Amino acid sequence: MAQKVRFTETVLRDANQSLMATRLPYSDMEKILPTMDKAGYYSVECWGGATFDSCLRYLNEDPWERLRNIRKLMPNTKLQMLLRGQNLLGYKHYHDDVVEKFVELSVKNGIDILRIFDALNDFRNIRTALEATQKAGAIASGCISYTQSPVHTPAKYAEMCKELQTMGFDTICLKDMAGTMSPAEAESLFKGIKDAGVTLPLILHTHCTTGMAYMTIMKAIESGVDIIDTATSCFSNGTSQPATESIYYALEQMGIETGLNEKAINEVNDYFKPIKQKYIDDKTLNPKSMGTDAQALVYKVPGGMLSNMIANLTEMKAMDKFDAALAEIPAVRADMGYPPLVTPLSQMVGNQAVTNVLVGERYKNISKEIKSYLKGEYGISPAPVNAEIQARVLKEAGMEAPLDCRDEDSKRTGEDFAKAREALGDLAKTEEDVMSYICFPNQAVKYLEGRKAKEENMATYSIVEC
Ligand code: CO
Repeated sequence: MAQKVRFTETVLRDANQSLMATRLPYSDMEKILPTMDKAGYYSVECWGGATFDSCLRYLNEDPWERLRNIRKLMPNTKLQMLLRGQNLLGYKHYHDDVVEKFVELSVKNGIDILRIFDALNDFRNIRTALEATQKAGAIASGCISYTQSPVHTPAKYAEMCKELQTMGFDTICLKDMAGTMSPAEAESLFKGIKDAGVTLPLILHTHCTTGMAYMTIMKAIESGVDIIDTATSCFSNGTSQPATESIYYALEQMGIETGLNEKAINEVNDYFKPIKQKYIDDKTLNPKSMGTDAQALVYKVPGGMLSNMIANLTEMKAMDKFDAALAEIPAVRADMGYPPLVTPLSQMVGNQAVTNVLVGERYKNISKEIKSYLKGEYGISPAPVNAEIQARVLKEAGMEAPLDCRDEDSKRTGEDFAKAREALGDLAKTEEDVMSYICFPNQAVKYLEGRKAKEENMATYSIVEC
């Protein structure tokens, strides 16, 4: 039987987020949706991540309405979203009832697949979202944040995958957000996962940032990966995903079935070419993000973290400390129990390394965020944290032991939603409005006030017309 590899197209979400800060409005995607619906993708990632925030904050769009519109024009394709477990779309820990409601509404408005992850791979933080997804009848994809460290061995990843399988997820995704997974690592990872007895479909999500993604995807396919994330070619490469059409052609020649419709995927690219040009012209799309930057491989930290650190040091006129700060990162990361370097942990670790070097003494000043982390507010770290620093922070806070963030259960009140509804008053017309407010209060109020004003104007206008 021929090997099959299916594709998730990311142009509407991750490619849009990685290359142009999620500024693609619905009006720029609407016309191509019926064609995308015929392309034969496994799924189209179209929601979650920064799309929700960007809709409200910059595009004056209701993210729920966008989702319903995409659903209408793509009735035959699975629509996928990215969800940060108990943090939903942000970094705050929400109560279970809010998480349950969010998932229920997402599925009601059109989502078929929820890819659920936790920045620390603390799977207690994704269980509520998993159960809510199952209850809503959608597909739950358990997602692991990929990172490299002495404790992140292939055996450890295989163990995590087995845990996700036992929890009841439908598929498993390895999410390499920094694009640092090498072909050799992909091979040992995916082979190791299969050998450990994981039978669920495996997905690889990576980025071209460091230039390795095509090679890594090829090795992953040889090693048994079932689904890959790609972006239509004009929105591919750089900090985005590898190109859909290129991988399609490569796989077809190798006799691997993709299920893709060649004509449709080429039409999708033709459609997006002038749109991309428009955003290059108005500087929304920075050509820098389209290049390859292998620095992350050299320094072993994600590109975004490096640029954040350079910006901080430049601002403090301390660029001469760059090498020392860079060398301090692995030490801080080890003290923190090797968290994956994703937002917000990458910034937290980077900033603490800079502080340690500038102050000239390790942890003399500890940032508020690192203190919260050591108090257990972010979840369980992959390896134990430095006990001495943690003890200092706990003592200062008058705590005997770190928090168990699943204490949320005991705090579960069911009032969050009601309180938010009350706060919004007549601005909220639907449960979706209330949920927008819970996730992004300021942006939601701004959007909802604008909508109300527009409706009132229209009402006045129609009276005049009568
Ligand atoms: Co990504």
